[in-house]
Amino acid sequence: MQTTNQAASAYRNLAAAVYELDKPVGRSFGDVELYSELLKDVSGVIFEPAAGNGRVLIPFASKGHSVQGTEPSADMRRLCEQSADAAAVHAPITAGLFSDITAVEAYDAVIIPAGSLQLVTSAQEVRAILERIHRALVPGGRLIFDLDSLSGLFDTSPSARSWATDDGLITLSELVESVDPAGQVRTSQLRYERWVDGALAEAQLEHFVLRFWGHHEMSTLLELCGFTDMRTHGDYQQDAAVTAETAVTTIVATK
Ligand SMILES: C[S@@+](CC[C@H](N)C(=O)[O-])C[C@H]1O[C@@H](n2cnc3c(N)ncnc32)[C@H](O)[C@@H]1O
Repeated sequence: MQTTNQAASAYRNLAAAVYELDKPVGRSFGDVELYSELLKDVSGVIFEPAAGNGRVLIPFASKGHSVQGTEPSADMRRLCEQSADAAAVHAPITAGLFSDITAVEAYDAVIIPAGSLQLVTSAQEVRAILERIHRALVPGGRLIFDLDSLSGLFDTSPSARSWATDDGLITLSELVESVDPAGQVRTSQLRYERWVDGALAEAQLEHFVLRFWGHHEMSTLLELCGFTDMRTHGDYQQDAAVTAETAVTTIVATK
């Protein structure tokens, strides 16, 4: 089981800086628009665990929704608080893991965009988290979250990216270390480097482990956890079918 300390040591320093450079508040994959449309009638609290830098939480607050977030990384929480101040919105974010959710009938909706639930790699632990979320929703409340295509489990192509900063460059390279088809888990090495005048100033290595789910498998698990009326949307298009080409499936499940 992942502890608060383990999760808080990921998405720190350079990783948080890269997240903010690559996916600041205002950046949407289509998720902000789809989630907003699906939740436009919600007047109660929308809760986002793993809220990160507030990329989604803050736009929801800006639209007048009542929001609450949790996030284990202190660096990500700081970025979220700075963006909430800059946008002059109330978007409270506190330290916490998915497994720390203890609320009872408190939220009209729980949202988990960007595939963050896949960071929990034990299927048993995901089941316990879904049960917690079910308890935390008001009757009729909805859980909305994204899953990457199962085909990502076998995507082992290396990648390299870079971002210019005030004093140089930050680079990120990803190498897949192992694929476990039985556990549906892929482990990568994420190597973050900061370069100043062409010289390496700082480096950070993270193991990045994701579990990949089939959406039918997930629907069955949601049903076991008490959810009903599961609906899917392919690639952030409302009601679009999930096909072999779909990269991201958004699942909506109702309590
Ligand atoms: C891909 S980011 C998503 C941030 C934001 N929700 C978004 O859509 O841009 C994933 C976030 O999950 C957090 N995280 C990692 N493990 C977690 C866990 N076990 N429980 C809750 N959050 C976790 C990370 O610190 C990171 O900020």
